[in-house]
Amino acid sequence: MSFDLVFFGGTGDLTWRKLMPALFQAFRHGKLPENGRILAVARDEMPDERYREWLKERFREVEEGKRPSDEEFERFASLVHYRRMDLSQPDHYSRLKDWLGERNADTVVLYLATSPHLFTQICEQLGAAGLNGPKVRVVLEKPLGHDLASAQQINRVVRSVFDETQAFRIDHYLGKPSVQNLMALRFGNALFEPLWRRESISNIQITLAESLGVGTRGPFYDSTGALRDMIQNHALQLLTMIAMEAPASNDADAIRDEKLKVLRALKPFTPETVSRDVVRGQYRAGTAGGKSVPGYLEEGKVPPGSHTETFVALRTEVQNWRWAGVPFYLRTGKRLAARDAQIVINFRPVPHPIFPGGSCPNRLIIKLQPEDGLELQLMAAKGGSSTEALSPVSLDLDFDKAFAADRVGAYERLLLDAIAGRLNLFVRSDEQEQAWKWVEPILNYWKNDSTGPRSYVAGTWGPPAASALVARDGHSWIEEC
Ligand code: BG6
Repeated sequence: MSFDLVFFGGTGDLTWRKLMPALFQAFRHGKLPENGRILAVARDEMPDERYREWLKERFREVEEGKRPSDEEFERFASLVHYRRMDLSQPDHYSRLKDWLGERNADTVVLYLATSPHLFTQICEQLGAAGLNGPKVRVVLEKPLGHDLASAQQINRVVRSVFDETQAFRIDHYLGKPSVQNLMALRFGNALFEPLWRRESISNIQITLAESLGVGTRGPFYDSTGALRDMIQNHALQLLTMIAMEAPASNDADAIRDEKLKVLRALKPFTPETVSRDVVRGQYRAGTAGGKSVPGYLEEGKVPPGSHTETFVALRTEVQNWRWAGVPFYLRTGKRLAARDAQIVINFRPVPHPIFPGGSCPNRLIIKLQPEDGLELQLMAAKGGSSTEALSPVSLDLDFDKAFAADRVGAYERLLLDAIAGRLNLFVRSDEQEQAWKWVEPILNYWKNDSTGPRSYVAGTWGPPAASALVARDGHSWIEEC
């Protein structure tokens, strides 16, 4: 199968930090279909050779082990081309069409790695140039809009130019191998299904914690905030995969239909429930990795007095028969105590404890990063005596170690899937709009709430109010147990 892959925003951060290194990994692993060309387009004028040199420089920053040798880089770079393109100029799209027409590849993937405010303009121009035929797939990077109306506007234009089956909306969390394992855990094993419901589960916690601050992304981040950056997309996608019913097949739409049902069943927020069930925070100076680090307001180019949240914790429910009354706690933040993404399924305690000291409830921890694996916490009598207190023990499965040779990074997986036309790991427009609909009351409430976010010390687990949110139901975050 031949393919042409075009990166709009070809000199941007996303392209050189994530996309090109991921493609290189696919190339190194022999997974990239052989007959391919990669074209980067951006504003600057430069010949292919100059772009390749520039890329080679950037590749020096790629983590060791994933960096190409000179010889590997030369082979990979021979697939890479560059063209100048002014995205507002119709004739530049015609030139792109001519370039693509030279070879008439089986598949054309157009990856919009630009600022999202250009998405509608680019899609309209692609349509006008006839670059929307059945072989074409368009990949849209997040953030797709900053609220429901802007997301709908982008989707309207995308749908007017492309069929929904040609639109690949990225949520890179869906490409993480551990997230695929979540699907495997639930729908490739019969073991957990009878327990996967309100009768056996007391609460579910989804944590996406980062230890880094916003760094140089201040201007982007300040107009985004943690709710839009992580909850509306990554955290909600994970929630749907935990809560969804078994799809009838592994087809993209069968899966996305079920995910959409979960999003529709999420308890809608009102001003009262936002003030009670959502905690927003912003980090102040503290320590990370043993070093002093600045607070959010001292980071480069953050407007003084900004109320942008760098932390969110919230409580919600999925209002259906399976989940009624089970709290789902979601939290994310920058400059937290650790980089740690995990889903914790807390089971109910035994109904009648008979052992001395009682028994801790079982817990299943789905680890997404930095480790990638599963941990099942059980109670055991370590010494085998009938009078001893039970101790918690863990069954631990480390996917990274167990399946090291087969692991594929998130962007590598998603790029390969876009080239192959597999939509399973991409977000459909209705899912995305429903997620915006659900977060919008929170955004609206905050707009009118002059108290702003609660402050937390960098290097901690966020404002104390986040613990209180969970404690109110008689639960605690995993690190507090
Ligand atoms: C991105 C957010 O979508 O996800 C970033 O814009 C965040 O702010 C990143 O740092 C986290 O991704 P990962 O894969 O490192 O957990």
